[in-house]
Amino acid sequence: MSEPDRGIEPSSIESLVRAKLAREAGQRPEDRLWMSLAIHEAWRSRRSVAPRPWVGAVVVPGAVATRASELPLPAAISRFGSALPLGHRSSPGCPEGAFAGSTQGAAGPHAEIVALLAAGALAAGATLYVTLEPCAHFGQTPPCADAVIEAGIRRVVIGLQDPDPKVAGAGIAKLEAAGVEVTTGVMAPVIEAQLAPYLAHRRTGRPYVVLKLAATVDGRTAAPDGTSRWITGDEARLDAHRLRADSDAILAGAGTVRADDPALTVRLPLDEADTYGPVVEPIRVVLGTAGASAKVHPCLEVSGDLGAALDDLGERGIVQLMIEGGASVAHDFHAAGLVDRYVIYLAPALFGGDDATPLFTGPGAGSITDVWRGRFDGFPRPLGADVRIDLVPRADEREEGT
Ligand SMILES: NC(=O)c1ccc[n+]([C@@H]2O[C@H](COP(=O)([O-])OP(=O)(O)OC[C@H]3O[C@@H](n4cnc5c(N)ncnc54)[C@H](OP(=O)(O)O)[C@@H]3O)[C@@H](O)[C@H]2O)c1
Repeated sequence: MSEPDRGIEPSSIESLVRAKLAREAGQRPEDRLWMSLAIHEAWRSRRSVAPRPWVGAVVVPGAVATRASELPLPAAISRFGSALPLGHRSSPGCPEGAFAGSTQGAAGPHAEIVALLAAGALAAGATLYVTLEPCAHFGQTPPCADAVIEAGIRRVVIGLQDPDPKVAGAGIAKLEAAGVEVTTGVMAPVIEAQLAPYLAHRRTGRPYVVLKLAATVDGRTAAPDGTSRWITGDEARLDAHRLRADSDAILAGAGTVRADDPALTVRLPLDEADTYGPVVEPIRVVLGTAGASAKVHPCLEVSGDLGAALDDLGERGIVQLMIEGGASVAHDFHAAGLVDRYVIYLAPALFGGDDATPLFTGPGAGSITDVWRGRFDGFPRPLGADVRIDLVPRADEREEGT
């Protein structure tokens, strides 16, 4: 007789807890607190700095750090939850005297520099929290590691090492050689998720590909007469505009351009810029040819091999590419294993037949053993009457597909 399913064994829970504690061993609670603020700050530059990374930094003078560690952690984080002005002195309700900054535009100063400038002389002897390793090379701006050393920062707490070959540990090495204490890996999984498109671009040279689809619960994306507007409601469509705003380019197939004549522009409430910074309109890309009068112009027209097209877009500095259909383009990207994230908006509706367009047109898995299996990233998110489901490849699936 088979054993009843008892869920996770207590010994497994214990080993999970031990692994978590081991990962966090040596991490001070206040490091996680201040890094949370740096992560929050990084969102401010999410939509305006690519192909540079959207980074957040906080300078915390010694006395402030001590006071912060006395606060209960969740309370302190929620107090930081409100938006703080750029390069600010802490606003009322937060411990006084911390200075935060985020990367500025396509060529402006990096996050560390914004925070250091705000701190001025108070940076001497302070701790710097930064979500990504400070750079050590001359790019559009001078090396941040030098500025950190010159400011007299005593300790630097870093979320992630920068995979960009121009940095890749050189910033950390420079800081340590100058006698600065360096701690790395604080809240790394959260920052890996926040910077996923940047990390993918630097590791592969290609954009992070987000395939967006809107469908009925029976998985249909357009009616037999070609109409598909609108399957989902206002909130889901607003969310899709946020995805567009986070993307550096939006791609649609020539079939969708002919059927829908989409503008592929970002349309968002103006006050979103308070939290996520200004939007830089994504480049519009058509797979195939767009008619002369199509609303999508000016656009880039690409054709041929999809991998080569992604290489080309990556070289142009496209860090995140959003694919907006249709079903034949969706099929081709999926079949080639080129999708990093599937964002599927499901409406509580049924076409109720097999004559409407499915999510993908073209041959799929031939057998149940060949079915593509990913994992859900988070829970389905309600958006008005609709839900958003995020699906990502499993690590092993990704290796096979690329
Ligand atoms: N529900 C949704 O989320 C959603 C989103 C978008 C669109 N849609 C619907 O989807 C339908 C359109 O989908 P569809 O499958 O007919 O067309 P599609 O996928 O938008 O575009 C297919 C076309 O793209 C061109 N193309 C594809 N790969 C190419 C390559 N490698 N090189 C050059 N050109 C390439 C070809 O254009 P040519 O034929 O010119 O050679 C091909 O016919 C519409 O009804 C639209 O309303 C639904």
